Amino acid sequence: MIKIGHRGAMGYAPENTLLSFKKAIPLCDMVELDVYVCKTGEVIVFHDHRLERCTNGTGHVMDKTFTELRALDAGEGEQIPTLAEVLELIDNQVAINIELKGPGTAYPVFQVVDQFIKDDRYTLDRFVISSFNHPELNHFKALAPDASIGCLISCIPADLAAIAESVQAEYLNVCGEFISQELVDDAHRRGLKVMVWTVNEIDDIAYIKGLGVDGIFSNYPDRL
Ligand code: G3P
Ligand code: MG
Repeated sequence: MIKIGHRGAMGYAPENTLLSFKKAIPLCDMVELDVYVCKTGEVIVFHDHRLERCTNGTGHVMDKTFTELRALDAGEGEQIPTLAEVLELIDNQVAINIELKGPGTAYPVFQVVDQFIKDDRYTLDRFVISSFNHPELNHFKALAPDASIGCLISCIPADLAAIAESVQAEYLNVCGEFISQELVDDAHRRGLKVMVWTVNEIDDIAYIKGLGVDGIFSNYPDRL
């Protein structure tokens, strides 16, 4: 079962910062991170649309220049990192689930990942590209047909795992609060792997493992 550090290891450090990824590397097989493209075009690693919860800034992350974002404190003196900086830091030590959070992220993320692959720093199979924005996933798949796609859902669809086929996914990334044995079994019948977010408590981890899933995202990946 794949142990996934959620936003790095956000139980131990400010989420989606270099410190969080540093702490996650020895604890997991894969890290998850969220990306937006800011006003000046850089791909930055950040979870929310707005800056208030995770920084000392205000407003929408996509309205800010990279220079403005870099001036902010993302917690414990950390800065908002670029995707390239996180890939440099991780240096192929663990796999990476890139969640396309902002609109229009597929092509800029592809460019960053593709450069690291061309530089022989990573292979494409070290990445899972996931999103709740399913058209964005189709855009990425068109750019990189061999990419592993993670279809994110936060519900139990009436037609169960069929939704993953609309984005040619290899993974169904399911919310731990909306999961059933039926959904997991249907995904497996369709040849999909199931990864479940975000599971932090020991008893919940045991329950989700009991469903036979393939991966779990946790803020405390050492508990998995
Ligand atoms: O990718 C799993 C999980 O991160 C999805 O939800 O809101 O934590 O990005 P969120
Ligand atoms: Mg995420």
